[in-house]
Amino acid sequence: MKRLRILTFLVCLIPFVLLLLKVLQNDLGPDPAKELALETGEWSIRFLLLALAMTPLRHLSGRVEFAQRRRMVGLFALFYASVHFLVWVIFLLGLRWGAILEEVVERPYITIGFSSFLILIVLGATSPRVMVRKLGKNWRRLHRLVYVAGVLAIIHLVWIVRTDLSEALLYGAILAGLLGWRLVFARNKARGLL
Ligand code: HEM
Repeated sequence: MKRLRILTFLVCLIPFVLLLLKVLQNDLGPDPAKELALETGEWSIRFLLLALAMTPLRHLSGRVEFAQRRRMVGLFALFYASVHFLVWVIFLLGLRWGAILEEVVERPYITIGFSSFLILIVLGATSPRVMVRKLGKNWRRLHRLVYVAGVLAIIHLVWIVRTDLSEALLYGAILAGLLGWRLVFARNKARGLL
């Protein structure tokens, strides 16, 4: 059990280590700050979708290990989103604190990305077992916001890319599939079919 936990942790860390190596080798292309923002943004959304896929994977495979790793994978989505945010604040805005507020308020794609990030922070902060116990039924309700974070992240992406929408459409289709699966599962459960 513990070994699997450590293995999951190390695998989730691989994109970060590879990115760090690229930074150290100065291998990020002509616009390193932008490249870093794009890469970390990509990994945030991938881990978010992966976290959402854990429950369906558990049901399809019958392996409880998927559900047990859901929290860690979700926290990695928050981790990559935090790095993404820091890259933006440090390298793209040059730590101009006034500009942060201005951009969050005035640029819709930043407002949307920021809202998604705030949701991930709330979900991360309420993810420990003690919070699950404290919040009781409200915990489930609160954590349904993960789908809102996903939708906001996709809108953020669509707003940025504008021309080639294929990637945003792929992520959007995966999110829609996961949400659809969840709704069907909840309905069948309510009808006593499961
Ligand atoms: C903290 C708030 C956020 C800010 C300020 C922010 C800002 C940015 C910026 C400046 C870019 C690069 C745009 C460009 O120059 O082309 C970007 C890209 C991206 N962001 Fe965010 N973002 C935030 C939150 C998020 C979150 C929470 C996610 C996903 C969960 C996300 C996913 C992405 C993705 C996937 C891209 C890459 C788009 C591409 O590959 O073309 N962002 N973001």
